[in-house]
Parts: sequence; structure tokens; C-alpha cells
Amino acid sequence: MSNKLKIGLFGFGCVGSGLHEVLNQSNLLNASIEKIVVKDTSKTRSIDASNFSYDKSSILDDPEINLVVELIDDADAAYDIVTTAINKGKNVVSANKKLIAEHLAELLLLKDEYGVSFLYEAAVCASIPVIRNLEEYYNNDSLTGIEGICNGTTNYILTRLNNELKPFDEILDDAQKAGFAETDPTLDIDGFDSKYKLQILILHTFGLKTIPKNVLNIGIRHVKTADILFAKEKGLKLRLISYARKVNGKVAAFVAPLFVKDDNFAFDINYEFNGVSIEALFSDKQVFTGKGAGSFPTASAVLSDVSALQYDYKYEYKKLVNVNVELAEGFEIKAFVSSNDVAALSKIQFIDTEEEFTSATYAYKVGTINISQLNHETYRNNPDLFIAFYQDSKINVNLN
Ligand code: HSE
Repeated sequence: MSNKLKIGLFGFGCVGSGLHEVLNQSNLLNASIEKIVVKDTSKTRSIDASNFSYDKSSILDDPEINLVVELIDDADAAYDIVTTAINKGKNVVSANKKLIAEHLAELLLLKDEYGVSFLYEAAVCASIPVIRNLEEYYNNDSLTGIEGICNGTTNYILTRLNNELKPFDEILDDAQKAGFAETDPTLDIDGFDSKYKLQILILHTFGLKTIPKNVLNIGIRHVKTADILFAKEKGLKLRLISYARKVNGKVAAFVAPLFVKDDNFAFDINYEFNGVSIEALFSDKQVFTGKGAGSFPTASAVLSDVSALQYDYKYEYKKLVNVNVELAEGFEIKAFVSSNDVAALSKIQFIDTEEEFTSATYAYKVGTINISQLNHETYRNNPDLFIAFYQDSKINVNLN
């Protein structure tokens, strides 16, 4: 016999309204949205204003509501809602990757203390059921690596840059209009969104808790037409990849643009689509693709969590027990660095050089670098530097 779920919904934007619609359409679930709390009192919405409340306590203080679904944009406000709901013994479903990545350890302790379930399938690659698969199917420690296109906005931009060579800002504007960019698109184009999702993937792949500042994220803000042409000439494409791999007992992880060949899973994942490749000792690589953003695809993952809660589903985090890996602090990898300011290339130290090019207005270098010299600021504060890595480059982890 399934539990009757009485849902308090926070947020009625793209995903919240999508959930309302899919839940109404799917009468298979023993669940109903009892109350909806939103922030903006003046906004016109697709259902009557009488359906909304503007006071979060109307959900959080209602003992009848046994499930809080948090689908708001603001990670700080979401933190307040989620922690209060857990404190009150309510199960929580969230799609807020930033909230989860920034407060991983604390949220795990809290949900254990109150014995509730905290599910977030929609936070990573939306409709692709990657978290539940990592938890249930790949529930042992045979996983060796995970790579994903986890951000639809940047994949959309890179696809169109490759196909049309149009200006970056014009394409970003289209992504915002299409509704899959974050309210603050910096989160997308500088790789933060991909990093938050990677941290969640690392938790469920290797049982490793990470904090955002320890995982490098390099974005695509500084990609130039010359870089796209460099890739095209060599039959490569650029993709923003969330990457984590076990090497010598450590996890080498980053978010960065990667040059991929046509034999790579990411090569044919275009526009706002996402994809994840999971690599295990015995099964080798398996690839999941699907819609990683948008109203219904994201709502479908939330719906799946709601459905699982009818039967008291909880993530068990089996890999967290006796975790035997740690995050690698530095490792060597094959990199491409380019700049319109030729002198700026010297900011990156190369261990060896495979290829280089210099003209008066554009220069690039390809070779091995140690990523320990990079941090987000190296990338962000040097607008002339575009940094990308190579698919399948041999990664040498520093053994200290
Ligand atoms: N801004 C995100 C993306 C939305 O572009 O993928 C889904 O998390």
C-alpha cells in the first residue's frame, strides 16, 4: 500500500508549473499538491492566484504536508526552506544543484538526524535518471569514471558556435529566451552549474563528498572563433565536460571544455541535450542521453522522485561507507591554451609542448600542463585565455 503524499510546492516557475501539469495529467500517483508558495505577488501565472500563498510557513508549519517539493531559483532561500522542512520531519524533493553542492555534508547529516528522505534526481541532467542508477544499479565500488555534458546552455552555445560561427552573446541570448539558461547565466557559461552537478555525481559515483572550491571549473566564456576553427580543422568538437576519474586511488575531477573526436559519446550530443557516460571495471562504458533542462523534462524527474517516495525510497549512500578515495589535488593533462594577446600564453606553464602557433593577433600552444596551477580565477581574470583539455588524454596524478 503506497503512502498518500500531501505536497507543499515551493516555486511555480518553469519547473514548478511543469510539475503541476504533469502531476495533474498522471493520475497514477497517490499524491496531490495541497499548497503552493511563491515569492512574487504581482506575477500573472497559468493558474488562478487563489492557488498561491506567499508565506512559507503555510507549508512548513502545516503538519498535514508530508512532502516539500522545492523548485525555486534562489539557493539561499532554498537552503532555508529545505533545512526547515527536514527539521520538521518532512521528506524533501529538490532540483537545486547549487544548494546541494554547497551544503552536501550538512544536508546528509540533517536528513539522517530527522530520518527523512531527501531526493534530487532533477538536479543533475534533469530527465536522465543518473542518480538513481548510480545508487541502485551501480551500487558497488566498481565504477572507474564518469563524464557528462551536464549543462544544456553551454552545449547549445558550443553546438551553434560550431555550426554557425555566430557571435557568442547572440547565441547566449537565444538560450536565455529558450528558458534553459540560469537567471544568472554566469553559472552556466563559467562552468559552475556543471560543477555543482559534477559534485553530486562524484558523491553517488565514488562516495566522495566535495566542496565547490576544491573542484576546478573552467568555462567557455573566452572561446574565440579561431578556437572553433582550430577544432573544426582537426575534426574535433568542443564540449563542456564534467569529468571525474579514479587514477591511482585518487579522483581526478574538473569541469572544462574538452576537444572530442567522433568516437566520443559527447560528439553527437547537440544543442541543449545532456549526456552522461559511466565507466565501470566490468561493464565498460554506458551512455545515457536526454533532455537536461526545460519544464517537462525536469518535472518528469521530480515526478519520479515523488513516485519513489510513495514507497519510502531513500538514497542509501552505500559508497560513503568505507570510502577509499580522495580528490586529487593536482594532475597532468594535455591542454590547449590560446589567446589574442600573444604574451598572455606565458601565464600557463607547460611541461612539454606538442604544437604551437603564433601570429600577431592569435597564438596557441598544445602540450602537457599540471592543473594544480589553475584555479577558477586564472581562467576568469584572464579574458584573453581560452583553456581546453583533450578527450582521453593520459592523466598523471601527483602522488604526494
Ligand atoms: N541552466 C541549466 C542548463 C538548467 O542549462 O542545463 C538545467 O539544470
